[in-house]
Amino acid sequence: RFQRRVRACRYDIDQFTPNFLSIFDSLVPSEEEIAKQNQLVITLSRLINKEWPNSKLYLYGSCANSFGFSNSDIDLCLSIDDKEMSKVDIILKLADILQAGNLQNIQALTRARVPIVKLMDPDTGLSCDICVNNLLAVVNTKLLRDYAQIDQRLRQLAFIVKHWAKSRRVNETYQGTLSSYSYVIMCIHLLQLRRILPCLQEMEATCYVTVDDNHYAYFDQMDKLSNYGAHNNETLSSLLWAFFHYWAYQHDYTQDVISIRTGKIISKHMKDWTRRVGNDRHLICIEDPFETSHDLGRVVDKFSIKILREEFERAANILQYDPNPSVKLFEPY
Ligand code: GTP
Ligand code: MG
Repeated sequence: RFQRRVRACRYDIDQFTPNFLSIFDSLVPSEEEIAKQNQLVITLSRLINKEWPNSKLYLYGSCANSFGFSNSDIDLCLSIDDKEMSKVDIILKLADILQAGNLQNIQALTRARVPIVKLMDPDTGLSCDICVNNLLAVVNTKLLRDYAQIDQRLRQLAFIVKHWAKSRRVNETYQGTLSSYSYVIMCIHLLQLRRILPCLQEMEATCYVTVDDNHYAYFDQMDKLSNYGAHNNETLSSLLWAFFHYWAYQHDYTQDVISIRTGKIISKHMKDWTRRVGNDRHLICIEDPFETSHDLGRVVDKFSIKILREEFERAANILQYDPNPSVKLFEPY
């Protein structure tokens, strides 16, 4: 009976796609906003280069990976090769440089896990965080942006999933739920399994980067892949249903790790992610595509895993049975 019900729903779930697409459209930043962000990067680069001519400022995170909502904060990374200064000293000096340059609300957070300087630009009203020498984040930003260019359904799906996660308050790593970065990776993985996306790190490499003596490579000629997912015509709402259904009822939380590096599900056992080490647990396992020893689910604890799984089930059930799912799905928690 369950099977029949599932099928019955899958016949008409497609009718909700226009609704979800208009929510997607309402979240996408305008051209004007993107131009403002780029202008701010130029202004800040000029200011910082006066003091450190060999440094380079990179945009990363949601403003650069194409999964950013309108009005999100800007993540910047300063790449600087200065053997004399510690990261904390660089952060403190950076704060001084910005102070002298008419920027506001400057805060140097030197004791955070990732030390940053926060600031607000009074001309554009934009807020940003600048970290130092976190180049792997710049590299994974490009990987996500590259995936987004292959099939537009990835960006649409990830926007809706992020919007759901923010509305339901399960996008808060300090509360034990998952980062936006993790949700995008979960979406990429689903589309890889459905052959809507390839696995770029398993293809012949065309792009090479070295960060802290580690070498990374993957295929990045996106113009050659623009038809990759064309044989699959699943709509946005059907993929959304599949996403929540997978995480609510199909994922094996005791054995499985999702891996976009391989495009497969791999085993916890193989990664030795079977027990808690310090504060890192492996209750939901999402492999970082580059730092492969890094489980993006490590922040999830025995309380938050329950909340997370209940939210996946709630969302799956709304998509299955609710006649107007786009209202209930995003109901504030
Ligand atoms: P929103 O700000 O919520 O819209 O999303 P965001 O894309 O900025 O995501 P988030 O704040 O989760 O992360 C910002 C960037 O930091 C990501 O795009 C990644 O490049 C990087 N990042 C975040 N978490 C991790 C992590 O656990 N490991 C690594 N290597 N990079 C991470
Ligand atoms: Mg961000």
